Amino acid sequence: MKRIAAILQSDPSMIEITVKGWVRSFRNDRFIALNDGSTIHNLQAVIEPENYDRDLLDQINVAAAVAVTGTLTESAGSGQRIELQATKIEILATADPEEVKKTILSPKKHNLETLREQAHLRVRTNTFGAVMRVRAALSFAVHKYFQEQGFYQAHTPIITGSDAEGAGEMFRISTLDPKNPPLDEEGNIDYKQDFFEKESNLTVSGQLEAETYAMGLGQVYTFGPTFRAENSNTSRHLAEFWMIEPEVAFNDLDANMDLAEGFLKSVIDYALENCADDIAFLEKRQADEDKQKPAAERSPMPLREKLEFIGKNNFKRVSYTEAIDILRNSKPNKKKKFKYPINEWGADLQSEHERYLVEKHFECPVILFDYPAKIKAFYMRLNDKDANGNETVRAMDILFPGIGEMVGGSQREERYDVLKQKMTDMEISEEELGWYLEMRKFGSVVHSGFGLGFERLVMFVTGMGNIRDVIPYPRTPGNAEF
Ligand code: 4AD
Ligand code: MG
Repeated sequence: MKRIAAILQSDPSMIEITVKGWVRSFRNDRFIALNDGSTIHNLQAVIEPENYDRDLLDQINVAAAVAVTGTLTESAGSGQRIELQATKIEILATADPEEVKKTILSPKKHNLETLREQAHLRVRTNTFGAVMRVRAALSFAVHKYFQEQGFYQAHTPIITGSDAEGAGEMFRISTLDPKNPPLDEEGNIDYKQDFFEKESNLTVSGQLEAETYAMGLGQVYTFGPTFRAENSNTSRHLAEFWMIEPEVAFNDLDANMDLAEGFLKSVIDYALENCADDIAFLEKRQADEDKQKPAAERSPMPLREKLEFIGKNNFKRVSYTEAIDILRNSKPNKKKKFKYPINEWGADLQSEHERYLVEKHFECPVILFDYPAKIKAFYMRLNDKDANGNETVRAMDILFPGIGEMVGGSQREERYDVLKQKMTDMEISEEELGWYLEMRKFGSVVHSGFGLGFERLVMFVTGMGNIRDVIPYPRTPGNAEF
């Protein structure tokens, strides 16, 4: 059966078609606005009320499902090019108007917080329909890009025994009885009696396993759910998010930056080309929201223009050390101060610093590289000490306007001895990650990769301000209701 997206592109025709969808509105006993989820636009079906029983007409309510048969004609009205002249209507499923009234399906404006409370219904709204279609298109674009570049998808495990980021933010999994776990001789929980006979958790990143696959297949990428038990209740963090992690043998950090930049431009371009109607809708939505906001918080560009800007401009590449100099000499606001002033080399950047660099100083996406070794993960390639004796690693973060960190990546430490020392210094257990270290004994070559938080990309492309509104069922602290 043809979907409404395709029907709206077709020409008037005497051939009879049947369309199934949900009623968005029913005016004057004559005009049904029908939506089947394939497009932001509704198909107008026109009926002759005198041809139908009152009983049937009374069931054509908002949210009810109907099948309409008829022919496509040029529309006399101004809202649409073509419409369906109905000859037959079948009610597939009713929806009680009194019940509908209590939900976000009722035809009035609901705010995003209210929509979140009815996550099971929100995909039926215009905004979420548009966001989720864009999300699906971006997901396809990710696979398309890598497949066309000769990458293989690697399916890395969800359940792991290690902590890839060494940040201790894992969700433990266990089949032991939490009320009465078996104890070892020292009185600690005896994980030897657990399902995996050791402590295990949900993965925080597929990177380490992907690295092992890059050492065999050359170029791989993962695209799967990752889990972080970090208690950050922000509009940019989820406890369960989807991450894309390419990993490439023989790529150094510069090649890694090129890959990330080319990839981001390509998938954003794909959305611009393939989601034009949804992006136009979301652009208008953002403009309406901006009207309620103080000038400083409004989006600096219309959505489409912002997305096109990405394709047309090179990302600015700046070392951490240069960024620190810029930040130290900047006057970010009227008070001329950051909330967390940058006093010394080596400090981690806060989101206010990242946003200043991207939104005020450079006004374009920024790739920051060569971070202090101390604030980054153990697996990153160590640089020679700089003139001031500072130790940096070949890390890169890509910062986007309105988002902050979109990508985190690095060249990996391929030298056995250096990695071993680093693991000892950072107290990374060799028992857990011995396999990762061992890989450095056998043809260990320069290699690099990065991780892109898929929801942050979807936020950027849809202009949505809260990460909870770009994933069907957001998992955040205290929220796994649906
Ligand atoms: O910077 P992160 O922690 O890097 C890694 O996990 C590396 N192993 C990636 C790699 O080199 N293969 O995370 C990568 C990206 C971040 O830049 C951000 O976009 C996203 O994942 N991210 C989150 N997105 C939503 N919610 C969270 N809690 C996130 N934590 C990270
Ligand atoms: Mg990071």
